[in-house]
Amino acid sequence: MNLKRWLSVIVIVLVAVWIGYDTMQAKRDDEFGRVLMTAQKQRGTEITELSAVPEPPRDMVVRLIPGENLWFVGKYEDGGGVEIPFKPGTSPMKSVDVIPQHANPGFVGPEQCQECHREKYQSFLATGHYKTSRPVNETTIDGSFDPGSNVLKTSDPNVAFEMIQRGESFVQRVHFFEWNFEVPMEIIIGSSKMAQTYLYWHNDGLYQHNVTHITDGNNWINSPGYIDGDAAYARPIPQRCLDCHLTYFDFRGNTNHYTPDSLIFGVTCERCHGPAKEHVDFHRENRDVRQAVGITNPANLDRLVQMEICGQCHGGSRSLRGEALSFRPGDRLQDHYLPPNDELGAKNSVHTSNQLNRLSQSVCFQQSQMTCSDCHDPHHNERGNRKLYSSRCMVCHEDESDCALFPLEGIDFKENCIDCHMPRRPTDNLRLQSVEGDVFPPLRDHLIRVDDMSTKQFIDDLND
Ligand code: HEC
Ligand code: HEC
Ligand code: HEC
Ligand code: HEC
Ligand code: HEC
Ligand code: HEC
Ligand code: HEC
Repeated sequence: MNLKRWLSVIVIVLVAVWIGYDTMQAKRDDEFGRVLMTAQKQRGTEITELSAVPEPPRDMVVRLIPGENLWFVGKYEDGGGVEIPFKPGTSPMKSVDVIPQHANPGFVGPEQCQECHREKYQSFLATGHYKTSRPVNETTIDGSFDPGSNVLKTSDPNVAFEMIQRGESFVQRVHFFEWNFEVPMEIIIGSSKMAQTYLYWHNDGLYQHNVTHITDGNNWINSPGYIDGDAAYARPIPQRCLDCHLTYFDFRGNTNHYTPDSLIFGVTCERCHGPAKEHVDFHRENRDVRQAVGITNPANLDRLVQMEICGQCHGGSRSLRGEALSFRPGDRLQDHYLPPNDELGAKNSVHTSNQLNRLSQSVCFQQSQMTCSDCHDPHHNERGNRKLYSSRCMVCHEDESDCALFPLEGIDFKENCIDCHMPRRPTDNLRLQSVEGDVFPPLRDHLIRVDDMSTKQFIDDLND
């Protein structure tokens, strides 16, 4: 055969394979559609109660994984499957009236500040810190619960997730072959800047849901690090996770066990000012005293000490040295946390970007008394406001003529010092990889510098 004929044969084969694949795909989608429809019919239209988890069909493998306290349900002995912390056939159930294991050291929650610090309280409600963790019944979940856009399919046609709203409750319904069951979405972690992930209670244990919502593109995805095609509902939420995303919780001495009623949601006032019970009690008793008692103003601390307050959560991936929540404003990080873990594997995440360290390498920082508060006011939501942030550069840099590039036609320097000098660009240090690819957008690098690449990018974008 000559080359031309060979080529046409190859093309024909490719087309055939493609059509075959496409029909297979369509058939899989059809099959799944049927499974969903039967499930929806079985449920009826108006069920408001969470339905009990049925027993898995007899032909499924059901095993208790010793030591890990989780159940595996699979179709085959080896292969993917479902992982849950509750016995198949029983439902997850939050324990009530559990007595705390520790005396609360004086965290009272932000509502208590409102009567005397009204303005700060009101504006604070709009911040990422306040919204970073919330109970589901007090707020909204980002993703769609409408039939048609409420399903996450996986690469395994027999495994899918359906997000369902029932009155006040929201659930993730797991479809695993012909077996399906529901897990309630009870706590949201994430202010939605990049994503929201969901937690639920089983007894006094906190666990993460398999499905997370990602803001960019408004999609349901597998939670970061989860294996596509499995249904994993047994990932425990350890103390350190809540230490960065909540204000207070009572830890019950075992990886992910907490007293449900003890949680104070959000990263709120007292994580930066210290537990405030004494302050609140005193000023309620002594209305005429205008001198603050029993509270820390970070502005009165040495600058490194002040910045280490933020470093609890913005100082890279550090493990706890002692008890969670033991850090108080004025303390040093090294007494409560281990040094950041710089191993490459641990570096690839939004969670390990270390603003504290990057900033301190900047010339601005080294030749001034700069702190995080020179640019950030934690009491207001200032997200994305480049002009405001640029005005803060110009507190020290007098005006835009301090920039050696100034003037340059077409650029309003005052509007945006940020994109050239604090580029928001993926570096090897700031990438989160997951099965879906890079999930989280890159962050602002806090090493303030002259950066030729971002300047070029800036000018290219202008010309587009
Ligand atoms: C009953 C009134 C009252 C309540 C409630 C109250 N404060 Fe205050 N707070 C004051 C007064 C009075 C001052 C001193 C005057 C000022 O700075 O406004 C003050 C000052 C402060 C300061 C500045 C301290 C300094 O040394 O400059 C901080 C920080 C603070 N409060 C935080 C809080 C937080 C956090 C809460 C809620 C957990 C809270 N306050 C609840 C009355 C109150
Ligand atoms: C060392 C502190 C720290 C730990 C530990 C930590 N986080 Fe975070 N997390 C952060 C910070 C800081 C951000 C946001 C970074 C930003 O806004 O630039 C974040 C962002 C997130 C977001 C995206 C929020 C948004 O608005 O888009 C989610 C979801 C999240 N974390 C979940 C978790 C979960 C679940 C755990 C535990 C398994 C955890 N985090 C552990 C500090 C932490
Ligand atoms: C993320 C950390 C953080 C959170 C959360 C936070 N603050 Fe502050 N707060 C600071 C810092 C830092 C300063 C000092 C700012 C400066 O340098 O002037 C401050 C200053 C203050 C002051 C005294 C200075 C002033 O402007 O009057 C008060 C009062 C105060 N905060 C109250 C609150 C209250 C009330 C809340 C919760 C509704 C809150 N803060 C939440 C970090 C925080
Ligand atoms: C107890 C942990 C904790 C402390 C302490 C803390 N943060 Fe945060 N911070 C977070 C978390 C978690 C987020 C992510 C919130 C989200 O988007 O879900 C965040 C987000 C932010 C953001 C991004 C806000 C946005 O909306 O884009 C800034 C800026 C920030 N923090 C600055 C600070 C500064 C400055 C301090 C110290 C004065 C500080 N933080 C102290 C945990 C903390
Ligand atoms: C607290 C004061 C302060 C603030 C705020 C500040 N800088 Fe600086 N910066 C300095 C000082 C001091 C220097 C060193 C002397 C100089 O070059 O002017 C400097 C140097 C620089 C340099 C030269 C860096 C180098 O490697 O030579 C750049 C670029 C810069 N700043 C940009 C910024 C930008 C952009 C912002 C806002 C995001 C900012 N600065 C905010 C104080 C500050
Ligand atoms: C389009 C990108 C761009 C913008 C916007 C920009 N800069 Fe620059 N900046 C540069 C470049 C490039 C240099 C280095 C130029 C050189 O050395 O010839 C520089 C240099 C500087 C320096 C160092 C000056 C020195 O003497 O070494 C400072 C400080 C600075 N810029 C501050 C600012 C501030 C403040 C703003 C906002 C008002 C700003 N820049 C906006 C790109 C930019
Ligand atoms: C010179 C100004 C400046 C200083 C000082 C500064 N930041 Fe920022 N920071 C910024 C700018 C600009 C952004 C981008 C804000 C935006 O786009 O919403 C940012 C964003 C952030 C974010 C959100 C993550 C992201 O990449 O969007 C966090 C968290 C943060 N800063 C923490 C800190 C902490 C902690 C400190 C002190 C160690 C600090 N910053 C000091 C300018 C500064």
